[in-house]
Amino acid sequence: MPKPRLLVTRKLPDPVEERARRDYDALLNRDDAPLDRAEMARRAAGAAAILCTVGDDFSAAGIAALPDTVRMLATFSVGYDHIDVAAARARGIAVANTPDVLTRSTADITVLCLLGAARRASEGERLIREDRWTGWAPTQLMGTEVSGKRLGIVGMGRIGQAVAKRALGFEMEVHYTDAAPRALPPDLPATFHADADEMLPLCQFLSLHVPLLPETKGWLDAARIARLPAGAIVVNSSRGGVVDDEALIAALRSGHLAAAGLDVFAGEPRIHPAYRALPNTFLLPHLGSATQETRAAMGFRALDNLDAFFAGRPLVDGVA
Ligand code: DGY
Repeated sequence: MPKPRLLVTRKLPDPVEERARRDYDALLNRDDAPLDRAEMARRAAGAAAILCTVGDDFSAAGIAALPDTVRMLATFSVGYDHIDVAAARARGIAVANTPDVLTRSTADITVLCLLGAARRASEGERLIREDRWTGWAPTQLMGTEVSGKRLGIVGMGRIGQAVAKRALGFEMEVHYTDAAPRALPPDLPATFHADADEMLPLCQFLSLHVPLLPETKGWLDAARIARLPAGAIVVNSSRGGVVDDEALIAALRSGHLAAAGLDVFAGEPRIHPAYRALPNTFLLPHLGSATQETRAAMGFRALDNLDAFFAGRPLVDGVA
């Protein structure tokens, strides 16, 4: 039987591409150029499935542009806000993502953002790189202590819980808000707040861990930021669209917020330029899952889903 034709939209780690080529008639993207809608549809000609990822356009229009041969989208990501799942379902296209395998690396980078923002890491690094450091001084680049502080987590799913676990290592007091209380293990003490507005005034640090949905778009807005205590620090490693950029930037400018650590942005890679100019931001280019181990695991998980689909088995991580 001929191998199913698989369009791979971006360059993937070598072991993942090797497996894709072994098991599929894989059309790879060796130069890693992002594919616009027209090019995606062109390359998808004759493909039975697409191994896609964050940044690919599978909006309703993107799905409509696909040839009829495409029966599955396996996204190399846990987030699938780049896919209009309802439009895919309506065309009979199955969709799967890659949860679990990136939980630890994303939680790790959240801690990096938290520390980087609190301890003024960007300013410190620039001082050295630009050769402006004149030596240790008692009042130089004093940041905010992380250890022992109160952390509020918005969305206590897999990644939220992994962040909480790490925060406990810093002796932080963990609070969270979610649609409902979670059955947390005994070694993960955290206080649930049904009402985020009640939690926000307690949060010396706030970390966002919700998917980008119509109801979470712009969730951290001016009103919610105003409820945070003066000097609070905001961290986001979920999706940039969850934050109202103008509101966050205004609060960072006014000093109501001491700092922000951001790994994700609305409109990536064309981020709001004010973030670059602010001294109190610690910025990373969406690196949450960017470790060799995790990126390989994500690729294998996407291939596991494709294998299941073509073997007629239930998808491991089906979302449509
Ligand atoms: C995801 O998987 O959704 C991340 O944002 C990329 O690692």
